[in-house]
Amino acid sequence: MSADKLIDVRNLNVTFKGEEGPVYAVSDVSFDLAAGETLALLGESGCGKSVTMKSLMRLHPAHKTRIEGQINIDGVDLLSMRPAALSAMRGKTVSMVFQEPMLAFDPVYTVGDQIIESVMRHEGFSRADARKRALEMLERVRIPSAAKRLDAYPHEMSGGMRQRAMIALALACKPKILLADEPTTALDATVQIQVLLLLKELQRELGMSMIFVTHDVGVAIEVADRTAVMYAGRIIEEGPVDDVLSNPWHPYTQGLLGATVHPGMDRKEALSAIPGSPPQLTRQITECAFAPRCSYRTDECLKPMPAAYQADSRAVRCIHALAEV
Ligand SMILES: Nc1ncnc2c1ncn2[C@@H]1O[C@H](COP(=O)(O)OP(=O)(O)OP(=O)(O)O)[C@@H](O)[C@H]1O
Ligand SMILES: [Mg+2]
Repeated sequence: MSADKLIDVRNLNVTFKGEEGPVYAVSDVSFDLAAGETLALLGESGCGKSVTMKSLMRLHPAHKTRIEGQINIDGVDLLSMRPAALSAMRGKTVSMVFQEPMLAFDPVYTVGDQIIESVMRHEGFSRADARKRALEMLERVRIPSAAKRLDAYPHEMSGGMRQRAMIALALACKPKILLADEPTTALDATVQIQVLLLLKELQRELGMSMIFVTHDVGVAIEVADRTAVMYAGRIIEEGPVDDVLSNPWHPYTQGLLGATVHPGMDRKEALSAIPGSPPQLTRQITECAFAPRCSYRTDECLKPMPAAYQADSRAVRCIHALAEV
């Protein structure tokens, strides 16, 4: 584990104990994040992006989840942290903007009270000072009539407004790391861009590191320094975002780029670029999970996957890519 990394994840496995048997949601995932860096976690629906992010906050219920591997956050071993240390860390060292805004807010308290409570707890502020910080944050995320909005309940806000309020809540204690889980997906296109730009601006101001989850290649290029591409619970390719997305090594990444919606193309047509669909995760897949959809497939692909091949600050898990690079 390297000490200069804010996040260092090694061989993470997350298995859910489902009623119909285990779900192998995340398998052998390793990545890191340096100070000030933005990593885009890229991949289509169900590939394990949110499960990976929630693991970094230890948000999975212990009795239903088995987590193996190592997660170091700012030099601390997350998986052995006690509850008090864990709640001191959440929102302060690492904060998360959730895919579903309703997950972040409790519907029975006002938005202001929830931000105030977090600031009082983490920063030791008085209620009056915490209210000032909450107001400042709502203004910073450009919520109009911010003073009035402090006393609004989450359901009284529009989707775009609630998303901004959630960013204000996540950033109120100036965390070192922000986990942004598809923070703009639920918004319409113009609001998406505004929220994206706002996040980048706040990141610069606060000097935060960020993991940005998205299924949108264009968004990844816009926000990130590096990208990690996930497929069926594994990271199958990783590296500087421009290199990976201009010259993808893994056939899945190549397909994902082919599946990107270009202007004038309808979404259905674009998504058909990769035939077939991702596998069920009810079996532990040790071979290449993409093989059934891959036009380069050979018998070798059905054997247990080798470790990632690494070169030029990039990594890829495909024996064919490995032969070519
Ligand atoms: N609590 C749970 N119990 C059982 N299976 C789960 C649970 N949470 C997630 N999964 C499964 O784990 C897999 C990964 O889910 P995850 O939410 O991480 O996908 P995702 O990449 O975030 O997708 P999306 O882009 O749609 O948000 C899916 O197959 C999902 O059904
Ligand atoms: Mg998700």
